[in-house]
Amino acid sequence: MSHLLIEGGRPLVGRHKVYGAKNAALPILAATVLARDTFEIENVPDLLDLKIMIAILHALGARVRREGTTLYVDTREIHRTEVPEELMGQMRSSLFLMGPLVARYREATLYRPGGCAIGTRRIDFHVEGLRRLGARVVEEGGRIEARALALRGATIVLPYPSVGATENLMMAAALAEGTTRIVNAAREPEIEDLGRFLNAMGARVYGAGEATIVVEGVRELRGTRHRVIPDRIVAGTFLFAAAITGGDVVLEDARPEHMEAVLDLLATSGAELEVGADTIRLRGKLPPRPLPRVVTAPHPGFPTDLQPQLVTYLTQSEGTSVVVETVFDGRFRHAEELVRMGAKIYVDQRTAVIEGPTRLKGERVRAYDLRGGAALVLAGLAAEGTTRVYGLTHIDRGYMRIEEELAALGASIRRVSATREEEAAG
Ligand code: UD1
Repeated sequence: MSHLLIEGGRPLVGRHKVYGAKNAALPILAATVLARDTFEIENVPDLLDLKIMIAILHALGARVRREGTTLYVDTREIHRTEVPEELMGQMRSSLFLMGPLVARYREATLYRPGGCAIGTRRIDFHVEGLRRLGARVVEEGGRIEARALALRGATIVLPYPSVGATENLMMAAALAEGTTRIVNAAREPEIEDLGRFLNAMGARVYGAGEATIVVEGVRELRGTRHRVIPDRIVAGTFLFAAAITGGDVVLEDARPEHMEAVLDLLATSGAELEVGADTIRLRGKLPPRPLPRVVTAPHPGFPTDLQPQLVTYLTQSEGTSVVVETVFDGRFRHAEELVRMGAKIYVDQRTAVIEGPTRLKGERVRAYDLRGGAALVLAGLAAEGTTRVYGLTHIDRGYMRIEEELAALGASIRRVSATREEEAAG
């Protein structure tokens, strides 16, 4: 089976250019459905999740063409409002089509979305929010139908600052009659980016990136040009990779202001950081200092999407660290794999206690989700001997050619592709 083959123990050294954020590009692509026009969207990473989103847009009747990192989207001939079930099942972000389709075409048919198995991932905030805006949403046997003669602005109080629900509702509200207030909105940088994109389309979105977002609905939106923000999670993953190998890496095209909690934590652990306007240099110091209590939280807190990478890093620290996962309820699967590599990690529901330092040993390990997979790659970089990481479809959803990018920084890592017979044999 395809896997990454890693010989550990080499410090990462060099410069790495951060590409565009998958989690910003996905809702932005969904938002193009709000207009019948043409768009130019730059800095879109060529990742599996984006391919699925593009396939969904095609299925609806849009045209999407890629030139390098720029996507040219033409939504003038959209003629379908049903997202194919097979594509829905491949990615949770397919849910982003619900708000835009119902707002622009008054109807949307979707199916239960797939996505990383990192806990129970409900969609009730999306559905309830759209109902508040006047949509009729019926769910039957995994099929979700949303309809509305017209959406009307309303105040929506989110029970939790959900990133996806905030984005879905912002998009729907952009074409609703009157004013919508989203209270307890998520404040992630990707939401700010979506707000900028919608406003460039002619929307009136105020406060994207703050806890209350106000959207004054407009009648029509138009095409625009936009550059997607850099991926702070990929940037963070490379910083942890540099730190865990005692390396010296400069990130280019980064947005340090989107990563304050991560940079603070790395500095507290002993890594040396030099932060420029769009560069971050990290020099790793091994062993890192342990961190007595890190709690993942919505932005601007420490991101859950870097929790697995952090846990891997802390296996190298001298002493006991504690990491509490508050965003998702099933996100420590990587810990079991790390333990197989020699880590001492004790997980109790949402809390992981990590005893360091441990010398990680090369093993055959499996990625069960995207960021957990990245964490295993980092473990392989730090381990003694040979590590083989399986489950690459997860990793490829969020990292572009991860082996090439790490090899360019001096890592010994390559992709071993399975023969067709081996793939078929599972
Ligand atoms: C987004 C990110 C994902 C990240 C997560 C949290 C994208 C494409 N994905 O996912 O990488 O890990 O934010 O930063 O941007 N919840 C409900 N009901 C809902 C919606 C959410 O109970 O209707 C719960 C979830 O189960 C979870 C929590 O809210 O426990 C946060 O989820 P949410 O912020 O919505 O994450 P996503 O948008 O799915």
